[in-house]
Amino acid sequence: MIEEFLDGEEMTILSFVSEPDYLTMVPSQDHKPVFDGDRGPNTGGMGAYSPVPHLEKWLSEIEKMIIDPMVKGLQKENIYFQGILYTGLMITKEEPKVVEFNVRFGNPEAQVIRPRLQNDLLEILEASTEGNLHSIKLTWKQDVCICVILTSGGYPGEYKTGSPISGLKPGVDDLVFYAGTEIFGTKLVTNGGRVLNVSSLGGNPAQARTQTYELLQNIHFENLHYRTDIASKAL
Ligand code: GLY
Repeated sequence: MIEEFLDGEEMTILSFVSEPDYLTMVPSQDHKPVFDGDRGPNTGGMGAYSPVPHLEKWLSEIEKMIIDPMVKGLQKENIYFQGILYTGLMITKEEPKVVEFNVRFGNPEAQVIRPRLQNDLLEILEASTEGNLHSIKLTWKQDVCICVILTSGGYPGEYKTGSPISGLKPGVDDLVFYAGTEIFGTKLVTNGGRVLNVSSLGGNPAQARTQTYELLQNIHFENLHYRTDIASKAL
């Protein structure tokens, strides 16, 4: 088997789909490799940001050449789909290329898209199940959202679990999403590779990035690892 190596920048487009309608969400960029500078093995995602200003010139082409034909293709094949279509792209020098499709939100893409969505998510999902997606107009905060993932050192290889987590302020830091965590007795402890997702919204990429990295400085557990360069391509 010969595979084409796709060199470029990743971009994710999530769409609400309720055939024949679909609504494309704002783009985001994930950071898969575990270390700064895109080094080391790939993970499920070490951080993301939205919008992705330097790649947005491709959006109309992606919709016309990839998402629209995908939804029409499903219809043609009599595959009735209502849900979230995840389009994972590599933006090469020549053009956007599809890396993968999934039928779910992205992780950590959802953690930067959801905070920017101004609509009521439940209304969109209800409209989708009722075949009324065309009645919805998506509106988005202009703010930039950045998410940094706090992982257990060693992930995506072997890592330790059960380390106590301190410094969280539930109800105050409302954009800290719990992932690989569990309550053990009365303590919150690590229970996975990707432990916490720390997001924040800011007026521009620099502000959102500073806020996110300041917020995560308060959080501690043994062998905590995170990338320090999330969204640097947007700056
Ligand atoms: N972040 C990649 C994925 O959700 O598949």
